[in-house]
Amino acid sequence: MSPDTRVAVAEVAELPPGARKLVEVEGKSIGLFNVNGTVVAILNACPHELAPVCRGRVTGTTLPSPPGEFRWGRDGEILCCPWHGWEFDLLTGEALADKRRLRTYPVTVEGGTVYVQV
Ligand code: FES
Repeated sequence: MSPDTRVAVAEVAELPPGARKLVEVEGKSIGLFNVNGTVVAILNACPHELAPVCRGRVTGTTLPSPPGEFRWGRDGEILCCPWHGWEFDLLTGEALADKRRLRTYPVTVEGGTVYVQV
């Protein structure tokens, strides 16, 4: 297949908000996540030391706040790597505390099917 191949990877019904599914596409392990209604696709390899990051916990994170205050937010939007705990924004792939980012793939949803462009 060409590098721009669109592949059907799931039915929308399999991925309600908060759900994830791991799929194999072109020999790559890719994690699909429904982040509050937006389906994203992420290579299952952490940019730090290549852990299977898509098996990590989906959580929130602490938000900027004044000294002495603790604010929690973004529940369901942050992926925490299972090896060393790096946090990534599922919607952008960016690490919260580093310049590195997850490899992401374009996702389209048509007729109840989820497609990933690889
Ligand atoms: S391998 Fe993911 S944080 Fe180290």
